[in-house]
Amino acid sequence: MGGRTLPLGLSNVLGDARRVSVHLGAMSPVPPADPGLFDKVVNLCKRRGFVFPSAEIYGGFRSTYDYGPVGVLLLRNVKEAWWRSMVQLRHDVVGLDAAVLSPPAIWQASGHLESFTDPLVDCRNCGERHRQDKLDDPDECPTCHARGSLTEARHFNLMFKTYAGPVEGAGAEVYLRPETAQGMFVNFKNVLETSRKRPPFGIAQIGKSFRNEITPQNFVFRTREFEQMEMEYFVPPDEAGKWFDYWCNERLRWYVDLGIPGDRLRLRRHPAEELSHYSVATSDVEFVFPWGWDELEGVANRTDFDLRQHAEASGEGLDYFDHALGERYVPYVIEPAAGATRTAMAFLLAAYDEEEVAREGPGQGEVRTVLRFHPRIAPYKVAVLPLSKKAELQAPANEVLAQLQPHFMCDYDETQAIGRRYRRQDELGTPYCVTIDFDTLDDRAVTVRDRDSMAQDRIPIAGLLDHLAPKLA
Ligand code: GAP
Repeated sequence: MGGRTLPLGLSNVLGDARRVSVHLGAMSPVPPADPGLFDKVVNLCKRRGFVFPSAEIYGGFRSTYDYGPVGVLLLRNVKEAWWRSMVQLRHDVVGLDAAVLSPPAIWQASGHLESFTDPLVDCRNCGERHRQDKLDDPDECPTCHARGSLTEARHFNLMFKTYAGPVEGAGAEVYLRPETAQGMFVNFKNVLETSRKRPPFGIAQIGKSFRNEITPQNFVFRTREFEQMEMEYFVPPDEAGKWFDYWCNERLRWYVDLGIPGDRLRLRRHPAEELSHYSVATSDVEFVFPWGWDELEGVANRTDFDLRQHAEASGEGLDYFDHALGERYVPYVIEPAAGATRTAMAFLLAAYDEEEVAREGPGQGEVRTVLRFHPRIAPYKVAVLPLSKKAELQAPANEVLAQLQPHFMCDYDETQAIGRRYRRQDELGTPYCVTIDFDTLDDRAVTVRDRDSMAQDRIPIAGLLDHLAPKLA
């Protein structure tokens, strides 16, 4: 198979992932920007049903997006893979699903009402608004390039405010959470009393968060409504440094294990001036997006800041008595905080590949687009493709579906030439296609086609699940 590697070297993602080392901090090379890749992935997302602009028939709605039939599967798989590694495969982390609407008292205590702000500047020339901390040149408007046209920065709070109940006004104000984390802090006592967990232990949560971003941008990278996957790990204060290092490494490994090449990831330590108001140490897991290195996830040492703030504001004791040591303390918190929607985008970018291939069927060679997702991330695991719509192929096709559907998400497609159907599945990232042809009626076997190698094997229907299950685990 003659392969052409894209500028970012995305071939053999699965094979190389475990062998490459990851980059740490400032030593990482500056990656080449690749805006072409960005456009290709955004187009593919629309064309194949991953992501649609929200309210598109009304002209779209302010950088919000809807996840289509394939995108919703991708997003679920990202969240499921995170939950599996954070909760299912551990005995020291439990889950939570807290409310999105929350009273001002939470955000007063957490410091978000005062500090969760971005510096906003307006351009007096073109009227565009920008985040001052994201400007390349603080004197130039990036939209109209006028110099000296930007206003003084104002602090703009990113939280969405709304009203609970029929009467708007003071006393009815509530906030849409800008991070899932506070739900874990305000439930610390409930979880401690009901779960029989003791520090070090964690509370994990996946859910929507909302930020009134001044400049949502880069497709689903920065949006006003997004999903987070956060875990608060409560530890004895003198163990915080050790657990911070542990979670930085664990989180970096998670992306590599799921197929993102290690040379496209790095850990970047925040300098003091970049730290959030609650953090004494933060490292970002960064990924090479088409515009360069950018944040995928932050791992922070939040100290005992949040528990102390909520204890003081609510009057509830949020400390822990360690019977073995005979000591009472307020746990420190190490927080790995990832974005599910942003991570889904990174998996799409890392999986995207194009290569020249001999045509599958008569004719000349062609370039195929293929998403080389790790099987756990791939939206569909198997596509079931009867060679034609003829009635006699229906029974074996249904038999194959009945065998596989309880175990894997399957697509089913019986229209168009088989070569075009393979190309469509390549663009969806489906690891295996199962083709039912007229020989199936005699030999009770089907053709299994591998997405990456395009190799085809003849497998008895009776042994199909056993053949596929280990490859898709
Ligand atoms: N509780 C800590 C916290 O929320 P953060 O760095 O602000 O930390 C964590 O957010 C992750 O959430 C980010 O690394 C990113 O993946 C995701 N995220 C944050 N803002 C986002 C936005 N506007 N759109 C998409 N994802 C976002």
